[in-house]
Amino acid sequence: MSFTFDYEANAEKLAEFESFIDKEKSKKGSLMAILHKGQHLFGYLPIEVQQVISKKTRIPIAEIYGVVTFYSQFSLMPKGKHEIGVCLGTACYVRGAQSVLDEIKTELGIDVGQTTPDLNFSIEATRCIGACGLAPVMTISGDVYGKLKASEIKNILNSYRTEEVKK
Ligand code: FES
Repeated sequence: MSFTFDYEANAEKLAEFESFIDKEKSKKGSLMAILHKGQHLFGYLPIEVQQVISKKTRIPIAEIYGVVTFYSQFSLMPKGKHEIGVCLGTACYVRGAQSVLDEIKTELGIDVGQTTPDLNFSIEATRCIGACGLAPVMTISGDVYGKLKASEIKNILNSYRTEEVKK
């Protein structure tokens, strides 16, 4: 799934980003600082942003892409308005977290690490969040749901959907 990067809407951020790169690029190990700045400014690091970095720093795009995809703090996709975290820690896993996760993936039509085309949801798999007594657990925009059953997922997701897209 790909999202179109809007140059016009991001013009101000791009100008700020380019002057940041100009300031940083001669420093040793500047790529990580530049990538962090880009992730912070745009919320993700699409290929268009990587091309800006490559052009200004003369670092090959393949090298930049390799770093972006290696570190989990960088994302190639924008995050959804509602970030869903499904705990795959041991307690949650043995109590059915996988079937909860599978139901969320089916319901939204996306995989872990992806974002729905309407930018409403993204899914992440997380480690133990310290609520094992409530396993299996998921969070949506900071709200915690415990003792989950796959059959409850649709209703929970609907409460985060805008009226037009409720199923
Ligand atoms: S294992 Fe899921 S909250 Fe601890």
